[in-house]
Amino acid sequence: ILKLIACIVIGYLLGSFSTGYVVGKMNHINIHEEGSGNSGATNALRTMGIKAGLFTFLGDLLKGLLPVIVVRILFHKQPDMGVYFGLVIGLAAVLGHNFPFWLNFKGGKGIAVTSAVILGIADWRVTLVGLILFILIVASTRYVSLGSLMVAWLLPVNMLLFCRDSEYFLHMLIVSLLFTLLAYVRHASNIKRLLNGTERKFGVKSKNK
Ligand code: G3P
Repeated sequence: ILKLIACIVIGYLLGSFSTGYVVGKMNHINIHEEGSGNSGATNALRTMGIKAGLFTFLGDLLKGLLPVIVVRILFHKQPDMGVYFGLVIGLAAVLGHNFPFWLNFKGGKGIAVTSAVILGIADWRVTLVGLILFILIVASTRYVSLGSLMVAWLLPVNMLLFCRDSEYFLHMLIVSLLFTLLAYVRHASNIKRLLNGTERKFGVKSKNK
């Protein structure tokens, strides 16, 4: 139980380090007041340019990947525990990212962190298929949020396709469903904008910040 609590606390604290917010401060802006107001890589790129976007993306990826990898290395003698605690610390990191306590629980939408956690835990094909789909959707529609939402929806499906032989399939599926739910909750404003045609398009400058 102590290990479980440690994973939850460490994962949440790591996740709550808001890369986009910190990069924003370094660029003298409050990312919560610019663009979509989100602290993710998409909005960092939109409001501060490619370098800031890339930095935010990499920072958010590391927050998800690092704790999962460290836990799996620590539990290498009990790989089942490695996966179990990896899922716990990964879920906690996404929650920390989405709802950081030190920013009034105003965080990102969790797509990069979730992808990193999935990469660290599940069959690599889940991430690869997700990435390809994401690129195809964003390239054809220019809506990053639509790409995120579609990939989030397909995550449990991909799990079924590629991980059902795993011993921990049920755990992975439950956490995937939670990731999908979290992604939809955090994209509520994007869904509204997509439906009424006011969502920002990638690479297009719009007046509605
Ligand atoms: O992953 C975030 C993306 O799906 C949407 O970001 O800034 O357009 O709300 P944003």
